[in-house]
Amino acid sequence: LVFWVVIPAAGVGSRMRADRPKQYLLLGERSIIEHTLDCFLDHPALSGLVVCIAPDDPYWPALPCARDTRVQLAPGGRERCDSVLSGLQRLDELGANEHDWVLVHDAARPNLAREDLDRLLAELADDPVGGLLAVPARDTLKRVGPDGRVVETVDRSVIWQAFTPQMFRLGMLCDALEAALASRMQVTDEASALEWAGHSPRVVEGRADNLKVTRPEDLEWLAQRWKTDRE
Ligand code: CTP
Ligand code: MG
Repeated sequence: LVFWVVIPAAGVGSRMRADRPKQYLLLGERSIIEHTLDCFLDHPALSGLVVCIAPDDPYWPALPCARDTRVQLAPGGRERCDSVLSGLQRLDELGANEHDWVLVHDAARPNLAREDLDRLLAELADDPVGGLLAVPARDTLKRVGPDGRVVETVDRSVIWQAFTPQMFRLGMLCDALEAALASRMQVTDEASALEWAGHSPRVVEGRADNLKVTRPEDLEWLAQRWKTDRE
């Protein structure tokens, strides 16, 4: 099995409220996005990797990985799904086949374990649709009304949190994203576009520490983990 990777990295990180997009904040001595790229770059089954960068981004060109010949660029778009579509088009130019597997992984998710990546690849290798890393809900879940009061307790056993990488065939993923966008559906991950097109992506249980840096406390938590792992 060989695979391609698309890393959307054109967000501004508004919820992080830092002085720069969160993918360029430091985790240890290197930026978040460099750690993210490391998760894939030395994988023996990798065919190619595309990073989607905002056209006016001044931070990317300053990184050492910007000169890594294994890293290809695509222009980021307005929403995450626009960036992903742009990355998929770049894969097409690079010679990817419509039946090839593509893994889409958030730039802001730097702690993907090789073990999780390899389990995703192995478990979905023969799957007709593809799927995603996900984590079963842990806490008790409440449906809450606009008045801030609990309406009901939701059955936790059927709820999973969707993580990345999300792994689909290039052609199927392109078609699904384009159709979902054309119908103005909210596409916050690749799987939701596939679902909208009538497919059922599979979940592959992953580690909970593959978290996306979204708010300042996420980075604090990861930085603490990073430090203890290296001590
Ligand atoms: N992303 C992207 N293009 C966009 C928006 C987001 O490539 N137009 C990327 C981000 O860079 C990030 C990933 O998609 O790596 C996940 O998105 P999210 O966590 O929402 O990041 P931001 O959009 O940057 O953050 P926020 O929503 O808080 O502004
Ligand atoms: Mg966002």
